[in-house]
Amino acid sequence: MAFDIERFVDLSKAVETSDLDWDYIQRVGLTKVEARILRYMADVESHTIIYLRDILSGHTAGDPEITQFMACWVYEETHHGRALDRFLTACGYPPESGRYTKVLTNMGWQEHLEAFLTTSLPKLTPHFAATHMSWGAVDEMMAASAYTQLAYYTKNEELSKLLLRMAKDERRHQSFYYHQAEKRLAHPLAQAICATAMRVFWNPVGVGVGEENTLGMIGALLYDDERGREELERMDRLMAKLPGLGWFRRASVEVGKAVEQFRATEPEAARAIDSSKGDSARLRAERSLRPEFVMTSAN
Ligand SMILES: [Fe+2]
Ligand SMILES: [Fe+2]
Repeated sequence: MAFDIERFVDLSKAVETSDLDWDYIQRVGLTKVEARILRYMADVESHTIIYLRDILSGHTAGDPEITQFMACWVYEETHHGRALDRFLTACGYPPESGRYTKVLTNMGWQEHLEAFLTTSLPKLTPHFAATHMSWGAVDEMMAASAYTQLAYYTKNEELSKLLLRMAKDERRHQSFYYHQAEKRLAHPLAQAICATAMRVFWNPVGVGVGEENTLGMIGALLYDDERGREELERMDRLMAKLPGLGWFRRASVEVGKAVEQFRATEPEAARAIDSSKGDSARLRAERSLRPEFVMTSAN
């Protein structure tokens, strides 16, 4: 089914936070691990505008469907960042002043190289757009998945509610990128550029923006068990259905590597995460029966 851009624009809005029980949120709070993960996610969300700058270079800026989507997309992501910042602040973890600029100046060389390539190469060929769209599809897929997984694990019911709302937005974003990728990968040159970029440059969303090792920590909490590994494989399978990406297994591989590195460099934190998993087993058993906590391959 084609992506309905009119409907997407009509439904676009800031994620709702005014109806959350902020007294409960303050009372129940966050674990240190959750706070670190949410900081990483908030930083990624708040810097979406930087990706917008890169994506709008070249031929994509001339496509009204893409520009309409992007205008709403960056608005929604900015509000995700604000919602997470508000949540963290209520729980005693406010962002330090100047956080936005600090994250930007700390971006690694790989981020800068990617930004250079994404703003230069699209000027040479319209077929580069397929790479942007495939990249966006997997990043949105992983964001939706991470929010759903964290919603499943946290004891804070209001956090769970907020994360599921954001996961719904991420799935709408995923759907746009995926349909665009599918369409644009029909051309062999688009496939060749995309396959190279995804093999050589792609990393899970947030690497280079968030704090070192936090991706590994997210992986250890959310993906280092049967449910988590199935989740990663599901995303890989969905990406592998795109033309020219039949080989794609990078979500499982890269998250696996990050978890290994996290376990090696922060063994105590890793042990604390493993032992915390037994704590809320009953809550998770109840949640596993509810459809909003189950990820599907639908796109
Ligand atoms: Fe988001
Ligand atoms: Fe998104």
